[in-house]
Amino acid sequence: MTATLDQQELLALDARHVLHPMSANAPSGRHPLVFVRGDGVWLEDAGGDRYLDGFSGLMNVNLGYGRADVARVAAEQMERLQYSPLFFGYTHPIAVDLGQRLAEIAPGAIEQFHYVNSGSEANETAVKLARQYFSVLGRPEKRGVIARRGGYHGATYGALSWTGLPIYQENVGGALDEVEHVAPTSVDELADAIDRIGADRIAAFIAEPVAMSAGLPLPPPGYWPAVRELLDANDILLVMDEVVTGLGRTGRWLGCAHWDLEPDLLVLAKGLTSGYAAMAAVGVTSRVVDTLRERTALFNSGFTMGGNQVGCAVALESIRIVEREGLLDRATWIGDTIRGRIADDMTELGVSGVRNIGLLVAFELEPAAGAEPGDAGRALVAAAIEERLLARAYGDTLVVGPPLVANAADADALTTRLRTALERVRAG
Ligand SMILES: Cc1ncc(COP(=O)(O)O)c(C=O)c1O
Repeated sequence: MTATLDQQELLALDARHVLHPMSANAPSGRHPLVFVRGDGVWLEDAGGDRYLDGFSGLMNVNLGYGRADVARVAAEQMERLQYSPLFFGYTHPIAVDLGQRLAEIAPGAIEQFHYVNSGSEANETAVKLARQYFSVLGRPEKRGVIARRGGYHGATYGALSWTGLPIYQENVGGALDEVEHVAPTSVDELADAIDRIGADRIAAFIAEPVAMSAGLPLPPPGYWPAVRELLDANDILLVMDEVVTGLGRTGRWLGCAHWDLEPDLLVLAKGLTSGYAAMAAVGVTSRVVDTLRERTALFNSGFTMGGNQVGCAVALESIRIVEREGLLDRATWIGDTIRGRIADDMTELGVSGVRNIGLLVAFELEPAAGAEPGDAGRALVAAAIEERLLARAYGDTLVVGPPLVANAADADALTTRLRTALERVRAG
């Protein structure tokens, strides 16, 4: 697309005044895409071109774009009461309703929810809770964290330290210490790390059920039960980062449900509000909450906007929509359909290892002769943009996952555009 004069001005001002997140990762040689409206799985740019969003924003827009039902709930709530704190003896009915609903979705022992504004804040809070739990039990030295290589947990200091991608730790004056990273699907490496560090120095293991940023390696069937057993044996709390996988993305309410896995701390964000409000939540077991309540007067954490009425109302409505529109089954159906089409139609175009868990679909790209790692992924993402399809590459692993409201025609459009993009890359 050639930028119009208005757009050129906008882009010049953008370059001057907007410091973009993770901007070093922006695809080089391309001006930013300028989106101005959306509906369903589609985004429209300033020039009127429609793009199929195969990455759901940042894998957060589960309910799709332009929903009047969510907008109405948010607007009504803003008019009635947009804010009163949850700090210092205040509460409000929507926070209570949401906590009750999330407790039904979460595994049995998780009864309490603490609200924050982002996945990073939620992970920070979950690890703080784990450390506080052991500290009030008289074990303050049990505070180290084991995380996984390739995992992403956010951009704040704690979260970037648990993130297993070194680029996020560069030039920030040092990550937190007492963090160890292990391979994403190896129980043995986790067991070795626990032995080496000593269980009495480790508070938590933080992990996504399936780590998208590690290229979506699906855990072997025995992985999660063995991890849970190992953590229990060593009294280490499991912080399950369900920022991407939670609230339907994998075809279940929670990714951990695929293995009947019960975390001690459950982290929810993105799909909780699909981008219609900033909102995240940490689910906590009664064991942790009761211990803190019995032994300290203070859970010393919280953010001004955490659990504001608008965020809670949007989250509650989002959960109702997932139920009303059968989006868990749809995520499985559309995800399996996309995976099947890619596996059936695109292997001769250098695609292998096609896999999915619900509407998270990934595959490997064969690099061209002499290419650097990541070149094939970057080339396909750029070619897909030319086909008006948004996707994301982690190295040479491509990940697609449109909003859960995608229908059969959207799945068709996605795979057709993807195939054309692959052909473009092959043609050089
Ligand atoms: C698995 C996971 N955890 C945590 C985060 C951080 O969430 P936020 O960007 O809302 O702080 C992300 C963001 O992409 C994520 O993918």
